Amino acid sequence: MIALGIVASLVGIAIALSIPWFPKSASTSADKIDTVYDVLLICSVPIFVLVMTVALYSVWRFRAKPGDMRDGAPIHGNTRLEVIWVTIPFLMVTALAIYGWVTLDDIEAKQPDTMIVNVTGRQFTWSFEYPEQKVDSTELVLPKDRPIEFRIHTKDVLHSFWVPEFRLKSDAVPGLTTKIRVTPNRIGNYQVVCAELCGIGHSTMRQDVRVVSPTVFTAWIDKQKQPASAQAGGGGGGGGAAAKPDGAQVFADNGCASCHTLAIANATGTVGPNLGKIPNATAAFIRQSIADPNKVITKGFPPNTMPQDFSSKLSKAELNALVDYILKAQK
Ligand code: CUA
Repeated sequence: MIALGIVASLVGIAIALSIPWFPKSASTSADKIDTVYDVLLICSVPIFVLVMTVALYSVWRFRAKPGDMRDGAPIHGNTRLEVIWVTIPFLMVTALAIYGWVTLDDIEAKQPDTMIVNVTGRQFTWSFEYPEQKVDSTELVLPKDRPIEFRIHTKDVLHSFWVPEFRLKSDAVPGLTTKIRVTPNRIGNYQVVCAELCGIGHSTMRQDVRVVSPTVFTAWIDKQKQPASAQAGGGGGGGGAAAKPDGAQVFADNGCASCHTLAIANATGTVGPNLGKIPNATAAFIRQSIADPNKVITKGFPPNTMPQDFSSKLSKAELNALVDYILKAQK
């Protein structure tokens, strides 16, 4: 049994370690987290094998013979065995907990020159705010090698912010701000996914993450700022507060694309109806459907899915621009 157990453990560990559980890593914490996983696998496989070997052997060795109707022997425990099987797992679990805590403490350590990014989840989209640069975006762009502190919020239900290549994951909890610290260290395109079942559009709650060089990042930030300042200059008014909102921008900023299809916006969501083909579309109907989405439910789509707070979240001008934009997109 011992020989069989050792062989089975080694085979099990080899299989477990050869499986690529995670995609290629893109943050400085990834290697440490992957090592934690490997250590856990190496510890768990022999325990699984031990339990299963003893269980299967007992089933085979001590099974009742045909016709044997006697009761089993009345065994009232074995103190020495019980002390062993409580003490060893206790020591193992404690050691693993300390190791996990030390690793987490290391990953979460404050770094100099940290950039803050506010992450907001809502059904069914993510938005990102760079407070230091005063930029809002629906795409997450990060400079390579700069420590980032994500401050995670939600506007409605529980979501979970996860970029598999960074490894770290944190729930977005109503009423709380949760934080994770990550230093991206590989240039590339990844995706942020929602890892908490949050409603019918949960699986579509993915957005692009780009890790770029610091120069490309600065250029991107400048570009994000440009439209606003250009509009302010063109508007002629001081301060640029009266710039007319752009319907396409309102559509993009509010995550409409994650649930709706709209060709001119390159939106391909299927959680809600196609907004390019609204039967008998009128401005009044589109306005009502944004403000009170449950009033008219398109056949084949579930009610209570679209957020019902857009009329309070959007300014009057933004709502007008959005209605106009969708109305003009009808074919
Ligand atoms: Cu948000 Cu799942």
